[in-house]
Amino acid sequence: AGLRGLGREGYGLTVSPRSVLLRAAHPTGLLRGVQTVRQLLPDQALIPAEGADGERVDRWELPCTEITDVPHRPWRGLMLDVARHFHDADTLRRHVDLLALHKLNVLHLHLTDDQGWRMPVAAYPRLTTVGARRARSMTDPAGATGSVGTTGFDDRPHGGAYTRAELTGLVAYAARRGVSVVPETEMPGHVRAALAAYPHLGNHPDRALDVWTRWGVCDTVLGVHDAVLDFVHDVLGEVMDVFPSPYIHLGGDECPTTEWEESPTARARAAAEGLSRPADLHGWLLGRAGSYLREHGRHPVAWAETGSALPPGFTAMSWREPAHAAEALRRGHDVVLTHHRTTYLDYAQDDDPGGTPVQPGPVVDLRTVHRGDPEPTAPAPGGGRVLGTQAQIWTEFAPTAADLDRLAYPRLCALAERAWTGPTTWTDFTRRLTAHTRRLDALGVRRHHLPTTPPSSAASARTAPSARPPTQHTT
Ligand code: ACM
Repeated sequence: AGLRGLGREGYGLTVSPRSVLLRAAHPTGLLRGVQTVRQLLPDQALIPAEGADGERVDRWELPCTEITDVPHRPWRGLMLDVARHFHDADTLRRHVDLLALHKLNVLHLHLTDDQGWRMPVAAYPRLTTVGARRARSMTDPAGATGSVGTTGFDDRPHGGAYTRAELTGLVAYAARRGVSVVPETEMPGHVRAALAAYPHLGNHPDRALDVWTRWGVCDTVLGVHDAVLDFVHDVLGEVMDVFPSPYIHLGGDECPTTEWEESPTARARAAAEGLSRPADLHGWLLGRAGSYLREHGRHPVAWAETGSALPPGFTAMSWREPAHAAEALRRGHDVVLTHHRTTYLDYAQDDDPGGTPVQPGPVVDLRTVHRGDPEPTAPAPGGGRVLGTQAQIWTEFAPTAADLDRLAYPRLCALAERAWTGPTTWTDFTRRLTAHTRRLDALGVRRHHLPTTPPSSAASARTAPSARPPTQHTT
């Protein structure tokens, strides 16, 4: 077989009694093929050899095989929220290794939010000296409050930021494994940490704000005056310096517009730009940021609040409703499927959260992730493409590295299979997962242990997609 049709990531592997031949049209395809070889070897081959003098005596056998393998979709990822809880660079590198093992190729880092700003920006040092640390953290889920004063807080400061060298090092580490790091700096909402550092970027320049200690949607958002445009350009300039990814994520979700409606400055900006209402400043500001990225040869990405709200040229992450993905495709947007009912791995994975607080939302069990949402089929008349899918781990209730493991695995295996292979049967998947679980164990992944008894009918009823008001989402 020739190399034609293998694309960027496909590979061919032939193991015969005397040779192993791996073929690809592009070096990335070889990386994918090497992961298949690792999986064909005994599980202990996954464990790095110990010690310098540790001649390994194991003799490993590969089964003879002939494989041609190309991915179903080009975007197969995991989003890690490092803003709600900071996770260090070692932890991220470990996840890159695990992503590569699963032939996932995007690590989307949610670097900034109301509760913390994690990336240094030279022109704005206070983003990390002030914005990276909050005084305490809410211990209840957002929306769990009865009345003011009943919410629990842990009264422990939480903070952390990467150095620029850690981020560039992570990018290089990931690139060697064929994984692209897609950065996300949120705007115009979810910016409370930035406003705590630089109040003049908000709609009330004289107001002192703390880095937010609650979860949920905060109504303080960026202003729309010229200093904010300068800030956006400076931040994105540094983001582009550090992250060579063709895609740069601008956030864009959950942005209350009340402050703009009440601000004479914002209303004047809306009028000057010919917008019919201050709420349209959301699309205007995203559009300005997106144009800046495009002028520099990058593609802007944003969370799609609906199928129609993003400026042209944006790649849409459809997270609320599958209908939004279809609508965005019709409007010509490329789409990454990130629907919360099937890809949010911070949601409970079975009916027994074991006493720990979890993100409010439907149960997203292994089967739900494996099933996913039906992919929009026909080519969209507007020319938009489904790029692929990714899992999300928001970290309000995931402060430790062990939490990330437990939330990601094994559910991420189900998403990885669907993203690389396309839809598969549950029976085939679970058979493969049984063997694969031994690899996860060999690698020390602190995976979630599936309940040993089959779920009761009541439990499976709860796994059915359930409607929930999107505005209550707590990211
Ligand atoms: C989101 O969950 N707010 C994208």
